[in-house]
Amino acid sequence: MDSKTMIMKSSVPVVALIALVVSRVQAFISVAGSGNTHVTITGHAVMAKIHEVCEAVAESEGRDFKPTGPSAEELLRACLGTATGEVSGAKFRTALNQIYKQNGFVDQDFMSSAPHHFNNEAFIEGRNLIIQGTAAIKANIRTDNFQSARETLGRVCHTLQDFYSHSNWVELGNKSPYANIIRPDLSIEKIADIAMPTCSDCASGTCPNQLLPAILNGKYLTSGYMGLFSPEKPQGKCSHGGETDLSSSKNPRGGISKDESHSYNANLHNNAVNLAAEATMELLEDIRGAIGNNNYLRLMGIARSAVLAFVIDTTGSMADDIAEAKRVAFNIIDSKKGTQDEPSEYILVPFNDPEFGPLIRTTNPDVMKSEISKIRADGGGDTPEMCLSGLQLALTGAPSSSHIYVFTDAPAKDKHLEKTISALIRSTKSTVSFLLTASSSRRRRALSASSQFQVYYDMALASGGQAIEVSKSSISQATDIIVDTSTSALVTILQCSRDPGRVENFPFLLDGSVSNTTIYITGTGFTFNLRSPTGVTQSNTVVNGPLGTIQKVGNLQRIQLNTTEMGLWHIDMTTTRPYTIKVMGQSAITFIYDFVEEFKGPHPGFAAIDGRPSTGSPAKLLLTLTGEKGPEALELQEVALMEVSGVKVSKGTIEKMGNGDYLVTVNDVPEGEFVVMLKGKDKTFTTLFQRQTTTQMSQSKVTIKAIADSSMLPGQVFKLNFTVTTNGTGGTYTIRARNDKNIPMTHPSTLNLVSGGSAQGTVSLTPSGNTVSGTDVTLTIEAEGPGGSDSNYAVLRLSVLSKVTDFTPPKCEIVDVQGICYSSSCNSSNWELSVNITDGNGTGIESISIQQGSGNFTQKKVEDGVIVVMGLYEASCCSTSVTLSAVDKVGNVGRCSYTMKSSAGSRLISMSLPLWASLLLYSFLHDAFPL
Ligand SMILES: *[C@@H]1O[C@H](CO)[C@@H](O)[C@H](O)[C@H]1NC(C)=O
Ligand SMILES: *[C@@H]1O[C@H](CO)[C@@H](O)[C@H](O)[C@H]1NC(C)=O
Ligand SMILES: *[C@@H]1O[C@H](CO)[C@@H](O)[C@H](O)[C@H]1NC(C)=O
Ligand SMILES: *[C@@H]1O[C@H](CO)[C@@H](O)[C@H](O)[C@H]1NC(C)=O
Ligand SMILES: *[C@@H]1O[C@H](CO)[C@@H](O)[C@H](O)[C@H]1NC(C)=O
Ligand SMILES: *[C@@H]1O[C@H](CO)[C@@H](O)[C@H](O)[C@H]1NC(C)=O
Repeated sequence: MDSKTMIMKSSVPVVALIALVVSRVQAFISVAGSGNTHVTITGHAVMAKIHEVCEAVAESEGRDFKPTGPSAEELLRACLGTATGEVSGAKFRTALNQIYKQNGFVDQDFMSSAPHHFNNEAFIEGRNLIIQGTAAIKANIRTDNFQSARETLGRVCHTLQDFYSHSNWVELGNKSPYANIIRPDLSIEKIADIAMPTCSDCASGTCPNQLLPAILNGKYLTSGYMGLFSPEKPQGKCSHGGETDLSSSKNPRGGISKDESHSYNANLHNNAVNLAAEATMELLEDIRGAIGNNNYLRLMGIARSAVLAFVIDTTGSMADDIAEAKRVAFNIIDSKKGTQDEPSEYILVPFNDPEFGPLIRTTNPDVMKSEISKIRADGGGDTPEMCLSGLQLALTGAPSSSHIYVFTDAPAKDKHLEKTISALIRSTKSTVSFLLTASSSRRRRALSASSQFQVYYDMALASGGQAIEVSKSSISQATDIIVDTSTSALVTILQCSRDPGRVENFPFLLDGSVSNTTIYITGTGFTFNLRSPTGVTQSNTVVNGPLGTIQKVGNLQRIQLNTTEMGLWHIDMTTTRPYTIKVMGQSAITFIYDFVEEFKGPHPGFAAIDGRPSTGSPAKLLLTLTGEKGPEALELQEVALMEVSGVKVSKGTIEKMGNGDYLVTVNDVPEGEFVVMLKGKDKTFTTLFQRQTTTQMSQSKVTIKAIADSSMLPGQVFKLNFTVTTNGTGGTYTIRARNDKNIPMTHPSTLNLVSGGSAQGTVSLTPSGNTVSGTDVTLTIEAEGPGGSDSNYAVLRLSVLSKVTDFTPPKCEIVDVQGICYSSSCNSSNWELSVNITDGNGTGIESISIQQGSGNFTQKKVEDGVIVVMGLYEASCCSTSVTLSAVDKVGNVGRCSYTMKSSAGSRLISMSLPLWASLLLYSFLHDAFPL
């Protein structure tokens, strides 16, 4: 549940397809260099399943599925289909990382928890983590909370895979995964009793098989004991083994862990890896069945990247602005339909005074159109409004790295949320832009409109967005910027701000992959000169020049380049007033990043920092580079932290981790706010490229650590401990905690700290009894030093989940098959399959979907003592196999599969077979797997 994440570090080159990184002593590591880590096992299963689902979706849409190469990016492209436009792998890579990173998180924060690793014979508890975790994933997806679902999936995969490495399942001679571990309707059988000795002594610690014959012959399940802090273990029990396991030196010595491959256990290790991979596939298949193909692909981050997110002031004076927001939304929806730039998701948050919300989140453009049409300007008067409360909902509800647009004409009433918003911006990496249309009456009251809007300017700057002040009559000219950013492959090439301004030259590099380059300059009273690599210039006074078109509205100038000349460009600025510059374009070459810190323990590695990184230590970043042909076609040359408002640029040292991942260390971190700047080479075109992040970051002497180890239950108090540490001034630290769902909450308002010391506090949340299961809650905890000197934050995603009690999957039974298919002329014939689906005493059938197959499904519900859904699947003989999945209200899945045999002969000859004979043949061949 913690959004803190973890990444492993490699001491050996990683060759596996998906390896994020490898720890030095990670579970499932292979010294032979084959690199079987949790991440590679999960990665291979995830990619294989994506491939399968993409193929099924393409088949159902009647199109081809042919990736042009093996990279994740090419898979993404093929999966999204042939719609025109640029595709960026950033969202896909981000989603995959959200899954993979959690694997290591289990080693860091649940290091000593036996159930998380199936240690200490904690089978019931370990299985419970998997069953409840899987139920949580399904509930989160039903409420569209994909990030929480991914994080839980990563942790569940770790525990599931550990079963094969830490138990004796492999030694018992099993050749397939233990279904009972993931099947809620079954339970684990024959666990060795606590008093039952399981291992013989192994003085060398390198015995091929220490399990006692009684255990093997009796088929008892056991696992190794892990003694991180003490050698004690129950009499006669196996140890996990290894240096960090103190119990392995106590008789029976040795250990049965198959985490690493050694000469004495290579076979066992390989079998464990294979079964772990198979089990992971089965888990993914179960989730896919429960949520359907389209949601499964969204879970995996396969969606068009553009998200349209509006936060709209609905007070009386906003009629014009609302009309414009509606016009832009309709324009984007209608003009981008069927292209890669069509938004994959729409977010709308209205706010007024004192109301704000609700958050409307939909993937359906028609729903967005109807919701935005419903907004009316009403009430509120000419007073400050709940703008930041609305923005908070949008930031927590939108996927990370979204572009959010706020429409308002009034200052914020809820300025107390400023620090929370700033933490959410840093944590989500989303960009917030403001379209400000102060009415003249307001201008009269306030001395300067800008100063009452200062908080908006600060937030725009912190997130890399813009604060655009325009009159109500010219707002329609300012909204082009929204159209510009609602594209799938937006990249930032340069961004900086100056206050005060001065004469300065800003160079930026345009590469061959960039199209639609646009420069935005906000500020007033400036002049500039734009210079291309070949020396062509255009000044700000030339509206239609040799380099582009300049559009001025309010404090914004938008320069659209009409050339794609590659090389080093320059903007010469002349002014003493404050301004911001941003150069953006469209390109598939981009990167994602996290600040990380190293941690120790039995499986040391790097954990992504949730708050601001620590002052005094080098800054470490883990970044992933992505391009159209995958990371292999790109070469990273330079990464630096660049001051946003200054000139300091601190270069980092780069360590290549494989598969587009790099670890970057920067020793001399800028003191103020900085962004990440990256330069590299596109090997295919041998051109140099430059990219930059938009979210500002800075270091802090304060840290907050909080770990949520379970979900919340409706109606019950949930307690979360957090620890604040400081290297700065001692004294009274102000603590603030907020959540985005208005869940009643208590926490200490202050903590006393000495410099170099730490203090613990507890946040208690009580979600109401009727909270929908799967609801996602974003909790922000902030600590601020005496006098506001320094501060930091932690952002946690928690889920509210009802206890699942229905573990019975629906039953799908094939009752009839009709039709005859000929392979020679599949187009001209059809076949059909009849099924009866029931859910016995369960929660009832929620949905039935075609998981694979391109036919039609119709259904009829009949009450026959129990409710029976009678379904009919009809398909062309060109599509001969089908899998139907029936899901109950809590996500248990029942399936029917069938493959129609085509007869090879020509139609005429086969026609002569009597019908009863063919039916007999079909029932013999049919291949159904009701669960
Ligand atoms: C981007 O440029 C292409 C041609 O280079 C053009 O077809 C497309 O409309 C442009 N997109 C936008 C959003 O301006
Ligand atoms: C860019 O547009 C301007 C004005 O429309 C035109 O004069 C100029 O030739 C164009 N440049 C290119 C490279 O197309
Ligand atoms: C405090 O300083 C020590 C030593 O410089 C460093 O290792 C640690 O990370 C710092 N902690 C914080 C919270 O800045
Ligand atoms: C939280 O802190 C309290 C007091 O220190 C402690 O008793 C409790 O066990 C802690 N809870 C968790 C989940 O760590
Ligand atoms: C399927 O369900 C219907 C309605 O309950 C029932 O009449 C029929 O006998 C069922 N068929 C089979 C094969 O169970
Ligand atoms: C339904 O529940 C009743 C009572 O608990 C039980 O006797 C019956 O066998 C159950 N039926 C099914 C189909 O599980």
